[in-house]
Amino acid sequence: MPIHTTSKIWHNGKLIPWEQANIHVMSHVIHYGSSVFEGIRCYGLPQGSAVFRLPEHIQRLLDSAKIYRMEVPFSLEELCAGVVDLLEANGVSPCYIRPIILRGYGEIGVSPKGTPIEVYIANFPWGKYIAGTGGADVCISSWNRLAPNTLPSLAKAGANYMNSQLIHMEAEVNGYSEGIALDVNGLVSEGSGENIFLVRNGVLYTPPLANSTLSGITRDSVLTIARHLGFTVTEQAIPREMLYIADEVFFSGTAAEVAPIRSIDRIVIADGKPGEITKKIADEFFSIVNGIKPDRFGWLTPVKVHASEPVGA
Ligand SMILES: Cc1ncc(COP(=O)(O)O)c(C=O)c1O
Repeated sequence: MPIHTTSKIWHNGKLIPWEQANIHVMSHVIHYGSSVFEGIRCYGLPQGSAVFRLPEHIQRLLDSAKIYRMEVPFSLEELCAGVVDLLEANGVSPCYIRPIILRGYGEIGVSPKGTPIEVYIANFPWGKYIAGTGGADVCISSWNRLAPNTLPSLAKAGANYMNSQLIHMEAEVNGYSEGIALDVNGLVSEGSGENIFLVRNGVLYTPPLANSTLSGITRDSVLTIARHLGFTVTEQAIPREMLYIADEVFFSGTAAEVAPIRSIDRIVIADGKPGEITKKIADEFFSIVNGIKPDRFGWLTPVKVHASEPVGA
């Protein structure tokens, strides 16, 4: 998707012009993939714009940095305030927010010693992520997800997305809109950029974090909504074939939101239409983020954005 530029980017505590947010080709991150980042959505509610689960995303960003021994000179509160300042300065809503912490220009070599930690936050309009109206046609990838104790799955690190690229490119080349990766033991893990859920006999299943999944903020939102709607929820290891015989399957993610899956490896899921439980969870999710229902879980951070131009969500 082409990038729609905005006016400012937050860099180490200051708002700088978009076109000046550049790094040197010899920066550590370029050679060794040393970055951690987030993807967050700001929704344009009738009552005003609001960021979805901002502190939870920033906490995950700081957790990712901690795993990689990156010392971040900003607190959770400062980074949350940075996001709000940026959004209010750029005046673009709805939008996608991309904070990134990287190892910059200093010394060469795998050791990051002597390289500065740089923190940037950008925001820009971004629309629907998973293609396919009424459900996505996806495949099981021939690529596995990161094995435990190789690249840590709980860190949202730039380097992990080389694996995601392999999964996504293979799916696209073969005519699917997304790929589902199995973990190193052949159990269902997640999509290249989404967590996965299935429903069978009225029970909602999703793989646990130990199956090389990212601890998705939307995953957590889906689990919370499902429990509040009274559904039985289980986080358990899922064999591949359980997906084929499921009554419903859907992705969750900041970019994907709640996205029903119509077929996997050309095997149609149930009758090929989004299922009842998926629809109920999606309806609750979209009602909250679109301001139709009250924010009963305290997930929205209001921002004073007077959109300069209307942008599609
Ligand atoms: C690999 C991967 N899994 C899952 C997710 C979903 O996480 P979240 O709901 O926090 O966006 C993402 C998106 O960030 C992702 O990249």
